[in-house]
Parts: sequence; structure tokens; C-alpha cells
Amino acid sequence: MIRTDALTKDFVVSRTRTVHAVRGISLDVAPGELVAVLGPNGAGKTTTLRMLTTLTRPTSGSATVAGYDVVTHPDRVRAAIGYVGQGGAGGASQVVRDELRTQGEIYGLDRRTARRRADELLEALDLTEQADRKVDSLSGGQRRRLDVAVGLVHEPSLLFLDEPSTGLDPHNRANLWEHVLRMRTAAADPMTIVLTTHYLDEADTFAERVIVVDHGQVIADDTADALKADLAGDLVTLRVAAGDAAALAALAERAPGTRSVRVGAPEADGGRPVEIRTADGPGATPGLLRAADAAGLAVTRVDVARPTLDDVFLGLTGRSLRETGVQGGDEPPGEPTTDLSGTTTKEVLA
Ligand SMILES: Nc1ncnc2c1ncn2[C@@H]1O[C@H](COP(=O)(O)OP(=O)(O)O)[C@@H](O)[C@H]1O
Ligand SMILES: [Mg+2]
Repeated sequence: MIRTDALTKDFVVSRTRTVHAVRGISLDVAPGELVAVLGPNGAGKTTTLRMLTTLTRPTSGSATVAGYDVVTHPDRVRAAIGYVGQGGAGGASQVVRDELRTQGEIYGLDRRTARRRADELLEALDLTEQADRKVDSLSGGQRRRLDVAVGLVHEPSLLFLDEPSTGLDPHNRANLWEHVLRMRTAAADPMTIVLTTHYLDEADTFAERVIVVDHGQVIADDTADALKADLAGDLVTLRVAAGDAAALAALAERAPGTRSVRVGAPEADGGRPVEIRTADGPGATPGLLRAADAAGLAVTRVDVARPTLDDVFLGLTGRSLRETGVQGGDEPPGEPTTDLSGTTTKEVLA
């Protein structure tokens, strides 16, 4: 469905400054896949999506989307895809139902089909009750569902969603996901969905595949489970008396599957945690406890934690995604606004 080869985008900001937004991204997305592109602000997620949706021309490299080259056949690509941009779409003063019908007609649907399709989408995305209201009277969650409906009006087989849930509260995020997943499986051929997010839990729970990008490059690409097992490992924390911590750490270093061992700070009650990164925490723990017992080290507490995608990112970059300030969804200072703001996405695509 998507194939890119060394896709690159440079923005020449001034005579002396060029931003290398995307630096040679090569990826393949098969039909029906649900892929999350995860990365901190400024990683190049939006720029990548904009190249794949023909809104921005690559500086170099190539991309084929739905079988067509984005540079030589942008019209074909546009007809095959839906795109819900970061800022959202939709004429604010339009009535919800009319907005959907209009967008359908822009996409070349005849009047009757556009009406039918609008009604179907209103129903599917739980917007029937809001159908006669003005777009700008919708709540954030309703507005985002309308954005998704607009992206789907021409029944694309491939949908791009740029930060679909940013700014929504947890309830509305869950609700949006429920709708998107239902729409996806309702189609005869499951829709291919590529979305960007900086919500780690969201990528973890819903995506079948996670592509981690940082500084314009793909730094990991696999299922969330595989990334965690390969790149982070489970964390087993054993607490012992402070005086036993070094001996336990030495023993854990030699245990099968151990990747790294760290002795934490002494605690008020005289205990000290020994943190063991290991491929399979639940599997390794019994052996660790037996070895500790045999060495006369009394373990007083055991914790086994599965890694998060943040641990994966930390393992890959030495930085925490949480600490890059992305969780709030705020743009970093100096972030240039894209030329799309203020226009509707469909206007640009159509
Ligand atoms: N139109 C533009 N002009 C100049 N720089 C841009 C433009 N669009 C994006 N950038 C820069 O390219 C980098 C990647 O941006 P973007 O693709 O929006 O990242 P993300 O979506 O991952 O937050 C950032 O450094 C951003 O400031
Ligand atoms: Mg972005």
C-alpha cells in the first residue's frame, strides 16, 4: 500500500539555515495494516505524512502510495487516500451534514451518493444527533470524529490520521478509537491506516505495528511487543538488605537472560532495590530467587514490570519521550506553523 525509498525533505528556512525534516525514510506498509508513527515533536512525522499525501514534494527519494508515485501521479494518490490533518478540516460555519455532503461532491461523488455516504458516516461516527448543528458548535471529540468522517467520505482504502486524538480527553480518545477501529473492520477489505501519535499508550494498545521516528529517521519498526522485548526487556526489581545489594547484583549479572543490572538508592527502611533488565522477567524471576536463597541473600520484595514504549525510546535514544514535552501536545517554541493552517485539508487535496 505504501513503499518509500530514502524519502527526504529539507526546508530551506533562510540562506544560512536548512531544516533536514526527514532524512531518508524507507518503509513498506502492507494492505490492511494499522501502523502508528511514534516520535517526539519535530521528529518529522507530519512532514512524512504530507509527502505521502502529496501535500509536500519530497526533496529526494521516492514514494509509491496505493500503487502510484506521489510526484508523478498525485491525482491518483489523492483519489485513493483519506487524510485527516493535524489541524483538522471542515468549514466552521457549515452545517455538519452539509459539510460532509459538500466534501463528498468535491471528491466527485454524485449528489445522491454523497447524501447516502454522509448519512452512513454520521451514523457510524455517532454524529447523527449533531447533523443539523454548525460545525463550530461541536465539542472537541465530536469535531475530531467529523474530521475522520470527512477523511472517509470517498471510501478510501488508505487513511492517514495526523495526531487524531491530540487535545482530546481520555474518554473522547477512547471513543474516537472505538469508532476508527469499527470503521476499519466494517469495510469489505480492511482499511489501511497510518497514524501519527505522541501518546505512547495509544500506539501500544491499538497499533499492530509501531514505527519510531526521531530526527527525521526511522529508528525502530516492529510490533510494540517485539520492540519491548528486543530493545527494552522486562524490569525485575528485587529488594534486599542494603548490605546484600552488591552480592545480589553480582549474582544477577551472571543469571541467564540478564541484560543489565543497576543497584538503586538505599531506602529508609534499610532495604535496597536491585533492578535487573532481562528478556523475560516472569520467566527469570524464580531462578533469581533460588540463586539468591542459595547464596543466603534474603529477598524481601519482588516487582516484575513489563517495559513501556517509553522504555523502548529511552533505550534507543537515551532520552525519554515523556520528558521531551510531547505528552501535553504543545508545539515547542519556534515551531513553524505549516502553510495548511486556516485552510481545510480537503481543499488542499481536492
Ligand atoms: N514548512 C516548514 N518550514 C520549515 N521547517 C519546517 C516546516 N515544516 C516542518 N518543519 C520542521 O521540520 C521538522 C519536522 O517537523 P514535523 O514534520 O512537523 O514534525 P512532527 O510532526 O514529528 O512534530 C521540525 O524541525 C519542523 O520545525
Ligand atoms: Mg506533527
